[in-house]
Amino acid sequence: MEKDIEQILITSEQLQERISQLAAEVSAEYAGKKPIFIGVLKGVLMFMGDFVKQVNEPCEIDLMRIASYRGTGSKGSVDPVMDISTDIRGRHVVILEDIFDTGRSLTYVCNHLQAMEPASIKIVTLLDKPAKRLPEVTIKADYIGFTVPDEFVVGYGLDYNELYRNLPYIGILSPEVYQ
Ligand code: IMP
Ligand code: MG
Repeated sequence: MEKDIEQILITSEQLQERISQLAAEVSAEYAGKKPIFIGVLKGVLMFMGDFVKQVNEPCEIDLMRIASYRGTGSKGSVDPVMDISTDIRGRHVVILEDIFDTGRSLTYVCNHLQAMEPASIKIVTLLDKPAKRLPEVTIKADYIGFTVPDEFVVGYGLDYNELYRNLPYIGILSPEVYQ
């Protein structure tokens, strides 16, 4: 597995340090508001677990799962796979995402949750890859862990064909693996 990684971009230590900072900032912003953290599966798994453990305010968690198809020639689309089970009307929602790339997934998630009339929605993304953002995407991330270059990254929840999610760091996948 390690041999498929061209370069370690963010070490496990760097991840933990930055996630602690993010959790402290978000905890301060949401003090007394009992936010609900909604994670977008599966990529967010590791990040969400480490993040919420460091939130030192009462909060709730929920999960949703979407499938994004991003065929090379075809138009990308997003389909719901699993919805949240909480009534978020009037609640302060914080979306947790692994990576903000083209923005299709987060746009879908925001619109989907917005229709349930929460009091507010903000976005926390561990990684931001601005290079591929679609021009029509108007949403912005409110908190960003790390900005990454235009490379395919795996590890710490992120996959390539469902593999590499278990790596403890974020690494650039060697192009030989997918070429
Ligand atoms: P978007 O809809 O293009 O913004 O893509 C978001 C989703 O695509 C993420 O939640 C990931 O599941 C996946 N994705 C985008 N870039 C990468 C990457 O570099 N490595 C692994 N997954 C990625
Ligand atoms: Mg994802």
